[in-house]
Amino acid sequence: MDTYQVREELKPKGLDGISDAQIEDHWGLYKGYVAQANALRKELGELRAAGRGGEPIFADRRRRFGFEYGGMVLHEYYFGNLRTGIGSLTEGGFAAAVVEQFGSFDDWLKDLVNTGKTRGIGWAVCALDPATGVIINQFIQLHEEGAIAAFLPLVVLDVFEHAYMVDHRAGGRAAYIDAFVKNIDWEKVERRFIAGREGRVPERF
Ligand SMILES: [Fe+2]
Repeated sequence: MDTYQVREELKPKGLDGISDAQIEDHWGLYKGYVAQANALRKELGELRAAGRGGEPIFADRRRRFGFEYGGMVLHEYYFGNLRTGIGSLTEGGFAAAVVEQFGSFDDWLKDLVNTGKTRGIGWAVCALDPATGVIINQFIQLHEEGAIAAFLPLVVLDVFEHAYMVDHRAGGRAAYIDAFVKNIDWEKVERRFIAGREGRVPERF
């Protein structure tokens, strides 16, 4: 079985308002998800091979797989949409789509920020329904609850406390989200949107 590798190329540096120390700390957690996803895949394979796929322990591990693998994937989309110096987005297919669906770009962005302020731990994800072109900002609790099947991530914002506790205290989520918005890689968001509309997988790494 293939072993999944940490995607070192996704690690952001020199962000505006999110310190390298914060990213370094957070990156360690991402590596933990990769390790756990690999270990769980191996364990599930071994249990299947031993004819134990119908046992409660397999069902328990299968549930946990959604948490670990989901955590790995979401962190890759998150780190991968952080880059400094991109500025703002005013044109392109994504901007046009959110203006059409939310009324204005700022209204869409405000909705994303509000999604990120949802009480609880998880993710604010701007996602595309590839079948219809509908764009929503959804809150994914933990790494899996609330994710809609086959919706494609365009902007991914981690709002676990671990994403900002190095730079801020526990009450610092709003300041962290402001910093996140300043560092969104809009060029990548646009590429993800175009890929989704063309039936391809949005760029994750
Ligand atoms: Fe995280």
